[in-house]
Amino acid sequence: MATAAPYRALAGILVVLAVSVSGVWSKSFTIINNCGYTVWPGILSGAGSAALDTTGFQLAPGQSRTLSAPAGWSGKLWGRTLCSTDDSTGKFTCVTGDCGSGWQDCAGGNAAPPATLAEFTLDGSGGGMDFYDVSLVDGYNLPMLVAPEAAAPGGNCAPTGCMVDLNGACPADLRVTSAAAAGGAGGVACKSACDAFGSAQYCCSGEYGSPSTCKPSAYSQFFKNACPRAYSYAYDDATSTFTCAGGGTTYTITFCPSTTSVKSSSSPNSQDLPLINGTMVYTGGDQQTGAASTEARPPSRRLVLLGGVLLVLAGAF
Ligand SMILES: *[C@@H]1O[C@H](CO)[C@@H](O)[C@H](O)[C@H]1NC(C)=O
Repeated sequence: MATAAPYRALAGILVVLAVSVSGVWSKSFTIINNCGYTVWPGILSGAGSAALDTTGFQLAPGQSRTLSAPAGWSGKLWGRTLCSTDDSTGKFTCVTGDCGSGWQDCAGGNAAPPATLAEFTLDGSGGGMDFYDVSLVDGYNLPMLVAPEAAAPGGNCAPTGCMVDLNGACPADLRVTSAAAAGGAGGVACKSACDAFGSAQYCCSGEYGSPSTCKPSAYSQFFKNACPRAYSYAYDDATSTFTCAGGGTTYTITFCPSTTSVKSSSSPNSQDLPLINGTMVYTGGDQQTGAASTEARPPSRRLVLLGGVLLVLAGAF
């Protein structure tokens, strides 16, 4: 049986290789609609980035869909609300987050602001780290949580997002209303100050086009206070960018995440910023105060375990 030994070793190496290769390729996005209304996710791939399986689709309340993420994918995902197809023109449009395609597929169309955005750069610089954030720089239209699962250890790998419903609490001069909203003429989105007023100061353009000259405004502070981990203006990087090390990470993107499911923890992530500002009182939604903080999941050891089990099996034969 001595001749079998090299084959056993080779089989073991192949198993390890297969496991690590599958780890590289098993990144995915799971998009969950936890809202009480239908959401039409939209997806825009970055320039030069491979496309995902779809650029737009419908998610009824409670539905979810998993999309595999090609290595090195960059782009953004968002939720469109209050969508309908015009009876006479056949054109599909949404009151918020519309991508202008006229179809459920966005096909390269970008989200019309205001829209809450989840932004990703997978396998980026710094040794293949994934970078992600939830941005309110182009305004807000619905609550969104991005939670990494099964990431390899390393990075500032924590849930981020804007958990709370800001449509009711939105300052009057930023509020977007629509007769199409449930109950009629309700707030359906909240503009950024840049979108609402267009000034260089709020848009961080011109002489305000650098981190040292573009400062938070009272408007961006409204978003930041409510959602401390989300981008509130263009140079809000320090507290708003998250990173996970490579591996078979699943990024779960939940629209209208349940605030009570986010348990508090002593996780040392994200400069200890809470996901929800428990000191604020939200009048516009069913949010609870004091329910805050992060949910830290231990990194998955599944791949390592699987490799170990297969190695033992390979040794047995
Ligand atoms: C929470 O909100 C209060 C009131 O708006 C604000 O003063 C405080 O800085 C916020 N906390 C965080 C962590 O953003």
